[in-house]
Amino acid sequence: MTGTVYLVGAGPGDPELLTLKAHRLLRQCDALVYDSLVPRALLDLTPAGCERHFVGKRRGHHSVPQPSTNAVLVDLAQRCHCIVRLKGGDPFLFGRGGEEAAHLVAAGVPVQVVPGVTAGIAAPAYIGLPVTHRRAGSSVTFVTGHEEIDKDRPGVDWRGLARSSDGLVIYMGLHNLRRICEELIAGGLAKETPAAVIQQGTVRGQRDLVSCLGVLADRVEAEGFGSPSIVVIGQVVEERIPACAPQPADAEMPIPF
Ligand SMILES: C[S@@+](CC[C@H](N)C(=O)[O-])C[C@H]1O[C@@H](n2cnc3c(N)ncnc32)[C@H](O)[C@@H]1O
Repeated sequence: MTGTVYLVGAGPGDPELLTLKAHRLLRQCDALVYDSLVPRALLDLTPAGCERHFVGKRRGHHSVPQPSTNAVLVDLAQRCHCIVRLKGGDPFLFGRGGEEAAHLVAAGVPVQVVPGVTAGIAAPAYIGLPVTHRRAGSSVTFVTGHEEIDKDRPGVDWRGLARSSDGLVIYMGLHNLRRICEELIAGGLAKETPAAVIQQGTVRGQRDLVSCLGVLADRVEAEGFGSPSIVVIGQVVEERIPACAPQPADAEMPIPF
């Protein structure tokens, strides 16, 4: 092997939320492997002659299967010196970074992770919403609303979460939102529990909706919210301070197909 693969977090969209380490690696890499939720502006940081490989979803197609992405990375490690595997947000948070790291280590490829700013914290922050607040309890859960059907484990226990977590930050939650809200209410959360949705957080086209659990799914449907969106549920939504919200970046992040 000649190269090292860096599993790099690209942040949630605003290019200025990239870490300095990620910036340095993008400037010096000789191969880049990236997927859909990666800010386009970051691709331009790579040097001329850098090999670029897109492994995300294209309109009307499934995403590139994970084994093919793994094979691309191993192949590049044999030919290149510095390979950046760029992933939206943080690579170890619902980003399959763990699977890719394990595969690379097993194949004898040196690999290092570079954490990134996750959408579940940044998108709420860009509407002035802190995901924890002392007045709103002491726990927050990062949870996926989209589970692999073939996953060999029980699904998310939404009723249990309703009882055990003060706040919920839900990734990929819009598709199953109605069922999630029903389960949370069945688990004991009041219909009046505050809830927020942030679509395209931190970039051009950012929009949000602040509502309550009982009508959240209706509002999301009626107002045409889509992916990528973060859903926040809990009293913490009441602690929103719009005055501290930054301006979203005038940057483009493609909507995943
Ligand atoms: C496969 S997960 C990847 C999460 C990523 N690793 C992270 O740490 O942010 C993709 C989901 O992240 C959320 N997401 C990513 N970027 C977002 C953004 N800019 N605004 C809102 N949600 C976003 C959406 O829920 C989207 O469906």
